[in-house]
Amino acid sequence: MIKVSAPGKLMLLGEHAVVYGYPCIVTAVSQRLEVSVSKIDDIPMDRRFVDAAIRAWGDGKDYAFSIKSAFSGKYGFGSSAAVTVAALKAMRPIVENWVLFDAAYKIVLDVQGVGSGFDVAAATYGGTLYFVAAGKIIEPLEIKELPLIVGYTGMKADTTTLIKQVAEKKEKNPEKVERIFQAIAKLVEEAKTRILEADWERVGKLMDFNQEYLRDLGVSSEKLETLISAAKKAGAWGAKLSGAGGGDCMIALATSDKREVIGKAIERAGGQAIDVRPNAEGVRIEL
Ligand code: MEV
Repeated sequence: MIKVSAPGKLMLLGEHAVVYGYPCIVTAVSQRLEVSVSKIDDIPMDRRFVDAAIRAWGDGKDYAFSIKSAFSGKYGFGSSAAVTVAALKAMRPIVENWVLFDAAYKIVLDVQGVGSGFDVAAATYGGTLYFVAAGKIIEPLEIKELPLIVGYTGMKADTTTLIKQVAEKKEKNPEKVERIFQAIAKLVEEAKTRILEADWERVGKLMDFNQEYLRDLGVSSEKLETLISAAKKAGAWGAKLSGAGGGDCMIALATSDKREVIGKAIERAGGQAIDVRPNAEGVRIEL
């Protein structure tokens, strides 16, 4: 039996714009999804990704997978990408990351129809990445820490619908939406430098600006706004939604002595503070 695990992810900056070829920054999180091969079991999640992985790399053999995840599919941590990457790696343990990324991204696109692949890159490479859609650029950002706080809204986001909504907005108002994407791309470029300098105060400000643009795109929600403003009132350097919007998680940046008070503020505002560490290791063989 072989056991492989892959991390979940959180988008730091650049969501939606990344679907249109602009860059984003993503971090892999400490909560992992584990795949064991050769044990017949029920797969407690969407089977389509694992079935597609077996079709791609199963060499005609019938694999049976058992899947255990430390994170619920509802958080938006990227369970589909993580399970695809882990299942492929379980079938070909000695594979280069770029080959694994390409195969997994193709499967996720085939099954899901949309997506930039940033979640597949986080599951494969881990760490914190500067990423351009479809993996045109995947650049690891070498950092020691990332003072991130995560709050869950309690609502599942429908990524495909939100991507479609942004596409419709872009069709109706191409110049305005293109300008928003360009502004997001500019702040992602600056954030890349500031993250490497550990200038968290400025990264927090950039997150705030990014949130304003996401609001203009219409992908924020009342609950996200409530949690974001609670985190900021409690002393965060900055806060924003993470991922498609509409629900899932918000993220905030703050000094470690403020973690607890910000977590409590998120809970008082009706959210759930989630204990995860960012910048986690990519896919790995467990045994
Ligand atoms: C969803 O988590 C983030 C989006 O940018 C979609 C994607 O990049 O695949 C909205």
